[in-house]
Amino acid sequence: MAGSSSFRVPAWAVALVRRLCTAAESSAVTGGSAGLAGPGLAKPLYRRLSALGGAPQGSVAMAMDEWLQEGKRVRPIEVMKYVKELRKYKRFSQALELMKWMDSKGIRMTQSNHAIRIDLLSKTEGIDSAEVYFSNLPEAAKDCFTYGALLNCYCREKMAGKATELYEKMKMLSYDSTTLVYNNLASLYMKLQQPEKIPPLIEQMRAKNISLDTFTHCILMNSYAHLGDIDAVERVVSEMEDRGEGTMPWPVYSNLASIYISAGLTQRAESALKMLEMAVDRKDRDSFHFLITLHARMRNLSEVNRVWRSMKGIFPKITNLSYLVVLQALDQLDDLSSIEQCYEEWEALHIHHDIRLTNVVIGAYLRKNMIDEALTLWETASKKGSESNFRTFDMFIDYYLGNNEVEQALRCVFTAASKGKKEEWKMDEERVGIFLRYFEEQKDMEGAKAFREALKKLKCSCL
Ligand SMILES: *[C@@H]1O[C@H](CO)[C@@H](O)[C@H](O)[C@H]1NC(C)=O
Ligand SMILES: *[C@@H]1O[C@H](CO)[C@@H](O)[C@H](O)[C@H]1NC(C)=O
Ligand SMILES: *[C@@H]1O[C@H](CO)[C@@H](O)[C@H](O)[C@H]1NC(C)=O
Repeated sequence: MAGSSSFRVPAWAVALVRRLCTAAESSAVTGGSAGLAGPGLAKPLYRRLSALGGAPQGSVAMAMDEWLQEGKRVRPIEVMKYVKELRKYKRFSQALELMKWMDSKGIRMTQSNHAIRIDLLSKTEGIDSAEVYFSNLPEAAKDCFTYGALLNCYCREKMAGKATELYEKMKMLSYDSTTLVYNNLASLYMKLQQPEKIPPLIEQMRAKNISLDTFTHCILMNSYAHLGDIDAVERVVSEMEDRGEGTMPWPVYSNLASIYISAGLTQRAESALKMLEMAVDRKDRDSFHFLITLHARMRNLSEVNRVWRSMKGIFPKITNLSYLVVLQALDQLDDLSSIEQCYEEWEALHIHHDIRLTNVVIGAYLRKNMIDEALTLWETASKKGSESNFRTFDMFIDYYLGNNEVEQALRCVFTAASKGKKEEWKMDEERVGIFLRYFEEQKDMEGAKAFREALKKLKCSCL
């Protein structure tokens, strides 16, 4: 799954970094926005906006205009709150539309709102738009927030040259004195697989007396791990311990355990996992998810089961995601009867279906060549209203191709096409090649044509 290149970033570490990055990102851009609480009066307006789910461009502005036409009012600060709310739910283009609507009403923006605008522009219209917006800002608005937002965009897009150039400029202007600036650069180097650049960068932070947060520590640990220097990883941890902050945040321990597991240091991993268990946040499901996943990577079924039981005792409501994490852990341990049991337990509890969970079980069946069981489960889940996603089809297609049953695999492609999904399907060239060769061998021009059309319909980016 994770590929076999010599530079292997554990999927787990990536997840942590992503989690912490998003936390860092949002705190950057929301920074400086005070007094968000609006009067209850405005609530129905946000409800109107939030109901605009997949509505076409222009709907947000229309809803706002309608509101005003009804003689109702809204304060700029509330509108900004809605912008942030939409952004939180990844409705970036609607958030941007709302900001543009504010422009059209001549509502002036504060500095930190410019930073949000830059972020939204790069996510919807692309980095060029963000750059143009930044360069057209009045000089006073080119501050550490807007510079920081642009730097964040460059780092996210892995644009190393531009990021470095901007960072040099920020240094000159003394806009580089925040932890976030360095965390962004460190993640960029991680993404570019240049871990050797991270320790010197963190040294610069220390020299400038910029404080390191949990994210900085974790990414520094990961960079040393990738450089094969476990001693240095441990030095980072003991340095944190020496500062005497009691127990450290749980991500430090899960990060450490993950590094040990990847390095094959089983005993040290076990003790890091014990520390993690003491540090878990009993309100944060994620900390338990990491614990379960790490025990699975240790191939320790009894620990997976134990933590899962304790989690069920702590949280009154168990979410789909928790079941998914456990199913994936059991799948990694290749324990089919536990997988079936866990899946049945979830089915009994949840009325709504979640195809991601079904996919884990289907995948486990197919790996064991239990095609009948896989098909029965697929059918049952579909009847219960569970919508298959591309992963479902991919697994069956892989299975059939692996067994030289090209006809059956093709049937899956056509079924997927008939569902007309919105997302893009990435079918690899090798597979497309197998199908095309098959049509050639069968001298089936019609079939080939239908196949190409099906792929086009699936917006498959492989033709
Ligand atoms: C670094 O920061 C600490 C606390 O914020 C301060 O006491 C110290 O003087 C600073 N050192 C330098 C070199 O700026
Ligand atoms: C699982 O972990 C526990 C606690 O660390 C340990 O005592 C046990 O020996 C482990 N079992 C296996 C099979 O590794
Ligand atoms: C489980 O997932 C389904 C479909 O994604 C969703 O409708 C349902 O609300 C989820 N249930 C929980 C408890 O998260």
